[in-house]
Amino acid sequence: MEASLAAKSIFLTGCSRGIGLEFVKQLLKLPNKPKYIFATCRDVEKANELKDLAKKNPEVYLHNLDVTDFESFPSVVSWVKEKVGDGGLNLLINNAGIFDVSALDVISREKMKQSFEVNCVAPLMLARAFVPLLKKASSAAGGDNGMMSCSKACIVNVTSRMGSIEDNTSGGHYSYRASKAALNMVSKSLSVDLKSAGILVGVVHPGWVQTDMGGANALITTEVSVKGLIKVLSSLNQSDAGFFKSFDGSTIPW
Ligand SMILES: NC(=O)c1ccc[n+]([C@@H]2O[C@H](COP(=O)([O-])OP(=O)(O)OC[C@H]3O[C@@H](n4cnc5c(N)ncnc54)[C@H](OP(=O)(O)O)[C@@H]3O)[C@@H](O)[C@H]2O)c1
Repeated sequence: MEASLAAKSIFLTGCSRGIGLEFVKQLLKLPNKPKYIFATCRDVEKANELKDLAKKNPEVYLHNLDVTDFESFPSVVSWVKEKVGDGGLNLLINNAGIFDVSALDVISREKMKQSFEVNCVAPLMLARAFVPLLKKASSAAGGDNGMMSCSKACIVNVTSRMGSIEDNTSGGHYSYRASKAALNMVSKSLSVDLKSAGILVGVVHPGWVQTDMGGANALITTEVSVKGLIKVLSSLNQSDAGFFKSFDGSTIPW
């Protein structure tokens, strides 16, 4: 039988729309659905679909989080800690991201800095803020002696194939490509540093997805992307530390 994701607690960023919102929907349909889905977005009040999901599903806990508001991280972590207690946090999904076309003639320092802040610095800082709760979850499930998995203790950073240096044959997209390549490197270091604590870390590419970011011409729906991503996350173990996986299960070159 295929392994299925059985994380008790999952924290996600960027759940107002697109892939983040679809994650919340599909996590609620899992056979072992999480007890706690901490779904965050910049402005909960405006996220009507997400608010509806939370009204109907007591597992969904909402909180405002702009991922560049670094000073708010301690209070967000405390909010999670209050709920999960000694069980800790099993899975952090850094999904929020921004995209701009940024060809060579239009790229600016401001665009470079903004993309780095949202796509790379924020996931790193949020991961660090959650390490104590991830360690708790890992210990609760057998610590570094146990098997590593996304159900136990894991950080998943949503990157893009466009962040793959080897895969870059079409150039351009300076801010997006560079910030996602940096996110990949940050994730690789996290995977090495946190391995002894039993925390699995890696990056996933969701495919080219029909969202506000991906546009209408994108190849797949959010349903197909997230279904694939959940299947991938369900299958990962300690041998996958530092993974770079596509939604279809294939491994992407760095
Ligand atoms: N769609 C694709 O084809 C594709 C391909 C490869 C990778 N990805 C990656 O997949 C992830 C999700 O993308 P998507 O397609 O779902 O994009 P999307 O529809 O544009 O949604 C982006 C999400 O990120 C949030 N966000 C942006 N800046 C934020 C900030 N400072 N703080 C908190 N949240 C912020 C947005 O919140 P607001 O509603 O508040 O703006 C929104 O919830 C991104 O990391 C993206 O790079 C997407």
